[in-house]
Amino acid sequence: MPQNKQKSAKEKLIEFLENNRGLVVLFFCLPASFLFDLFLTAKRNIHRLLFSSPKLHETRAAKIQSQIRKWNESPKENRKLLCTSRPNWLSLSTTFFKKDQCHQIQVDLFDILSLDEENLTIRLEPMVTVGEITNYLIPKGYTLAVTLEIADATVGGLAMGTGMTTHSHKVGLYQENVVSYEVILGDGSLVIASKEENEDLYNCLPWSHGSLGFLVALTLKIVKIKPYIKMSYTPVKGQKDYCEMIRFLSGDDGTDYPVADYIEATIFNRNEAVIMTGQYSDYQPTLPINNVTNWYKPWFYKYVETFLTRGKHTELIPIREYLLRHNRAIFWVVESMIPFGNNPLFRLLFGWLLPPKPAFLKFTTTPGIRNFTFTKQVFQDIVLPIRKLEDQINVSEKLFDAYPLLVYPCKIYDHGEMSGQIKRPNPDYIVDGTNYAMYNDLGVYGVPGFVKRKEKYNPVDSMRNMEKFTRDVGGFSFLYADIFMTREEFEEMFDLKLYEIVRRKYFADGAFPHLYDKVKPEIDVFELGRQCE
Ligand SMILES: Cc1cc2nc3c(=O)[nH]c(=O)nc-3n(C[C@H](O)[C@H](O)[C@H](O)COP(=O)(O)OP(=O)(O)OC[C@H]3O[C@@H](n4cnc5c(N)ncnc54)[C@H](O)[C@@H]3O)c2cc1C
Ligand SMILES: *[C@@H]1O[C@H](CO)[C@@H](O)[C@H](O)[C@H]1NC(C)=O
Ligand SMILES: *[C@@H]1O[C@H](CO)[C@@H](O)[C@H](O)[C@H]1NC(C)=O
Ligand SMILES: *[C@@H]1O[C@H](CO)[C@@H](O)[C@H](O)[C@H]1NC(C)=O
Ligand SMILES: *[C@@H]1O[C@H](CO)[C@@H](O)[C@H](O)[C@H]1NC(C)=O
Repeated sequence: MPQNKQKSAKEKLIEFLENNRGLVVLFFCLPASFLFDLFLTAKRNIHRLLFSSPKLHETRAAKIQSQIRKWNESPKENRKLLCTSRPNWLSLSTTFFKKDQCHQIQVDLFDILSLDEENLTIRLEPMVTVGEITNYLIPKGYTLAVTLEIADATVGGLAMGTGMTTHSHKVGLYQENVVSYEVILGDGSLVIASKEENEDLYNCLPWSHGSLGFLVALTLKIVKIKPYIKMSYTPVKGQKDYCEMIRFLSGDDGTDYPVADYIEATIFNRNEAVIMTGQYSDYQPTLPINNVTNWYKPWFYKYVETFLTRGKHTELIPIREYLLRHNRAIFWVVESMIPFGNNPLFRLLFGWLLPPKPAFLKFTTTPGIRNFTFTKQVFQDIVLPIRKLEDQINVSEKLFDAYPLLVYPCKIYDHGEMSGQIKRPNPDYIVDGTNYAMYNDLGVYGVPGFVKRKEKYNPVDSMRNMEKFTRDVGGFSFLYADIFMTREEFEEMFDLKLYEIVRRKYFADGAFPHLYDKVKPEIDVFELGRQCE
């Protein structure tokens, strides 16, 4: 009996904590996360002071090579597959790859190596973050052609993962803007992969998630910018109308009109969206300036939502603030943790504590919490043909009923047969007179409506249905998020023909985990699905 009573008290406590997650986050997580961030930043700065020097790049790369050569000397049957020793919790990926089952190689590469203003390129070590590179480039009048709205993302993580942004309808995916990769292979050799050298490897490194080699440097294209983004917010009612407007603005109909530098839409419900277009701009005295990242400001998507009732609006946003506009609320992920986080009083008192450091959230994710978030939240970015935008929204609503949705267009180039993991776009989607199709990112983040209303919801069924829809229309799931596919389904979504050849040719077989094994969740999703029945 006492056992029972105690258990129910514990259950009550758990129930209370689950129902008042915001308070727990406020009084425990945010302060702890803040200290955690201070500690990580200090550690990184000390590391930088002591060890950083672009001149020592070759020495650092040689050290990694020697670790791999040593691994090669040990007997084959004792060798575990290779991965970096960067802890899982530092990465933004939602999966927890089992690094303890690998032989871990230290890849501590944090430096900006060189800027080439003549050719508009920059050479970087892979662990430079988006926050650091924007701080470095923007005062010089540049930014990376493709970055991410999250300051903690790394340039190497984006290169080995996806990398897609609101400028991608002009310049395509991150991988289109990589001039070259410098990679250490499973045999310890260092090779350059570019369009001129080792082109097959160059084509397979994007979407490879560290399954082909260790990236030690990369050269990226940069673009010239102006100090501000002139941002226009246009509310549109009616699904057909807002979808058509997004497609028109992206240039999907092939007519030759100037498209905006940045395009994004936030869809607040089936019938209402706010479409944002941004143009590089100098200061204009007639337009208001909005410093959207200041800590006391409303969360960006909440601010955007106000235009549904206020009508069209135009303003200037300093460019770095534009690029990091979604950082404070991690798009709208923070809302499910702190439901009252956008309250003006909260912002005034505690706004400076946001965002909770993604690394801290992952660091404190126990297997129980992981189970909880896995089954009660959705976290997906999916690349889908923009001509199917209405279907995407309808399918997402049916399966998750989670709004808002993030949408922004992106060019997907047709590079021909055997050109990497991304399948060639269906000829039906090719923009007339070009070699690309217009796709879009569909970002679905947060707590599904079914879970909010405590209705029946099977996350595995919903996710698998979404993936089936994605395969049927020729789209791709971002692999930083959890996938629910079998290996056969995965090989239907991605084209692994060249990848398998490259794995054999460049000593990745037997040295690095296979892509599917690297990105599949550490949780048995099929078992979990049965338990949710
Ligand atoms: C809410 C949210 C929204 C997002 N929206 C977008 C979006 O709109 N567009 C977009 O592009 N991305 C988006 N992302 C995903 C983001 O791009 C990924 O998390 C990306 O992988 C960058 O994270 P990271 O730097 O922590 O990389 P990691 O997760 O650390 O790395 C990514 C992969 O690369 C491998 N890797 C890393 N470094 C190396 C190396 N030196 N050598 C070999 N392999 C390496 C890792 O093993 C891993 O498999 C979003 C993420 C979140 C959380
Ligand atoms: C620009 O690229 C050209 C051709 O690759 C090269 O010769 C030149 O040195 C580069 N410029 C700089 C400043 O590095
Ligand atoms: C807004 O940003 C601009 C440009 O970065 C800066 O000069 C200005 O001081 C900022 N204003 C506020 C109130 O933060
Ligand atoms: C997480 O879920 C899996 C599958 O349902 C289960 O086997 C496991 O025990 C759970 N772990 C925790 C810590 O709750
Ligand atoms: C999407 O759903 C709406 C409302 O149910 C419907 O009117 C519309 O035809 C659907 N669109 C497509 C492409 O199925």
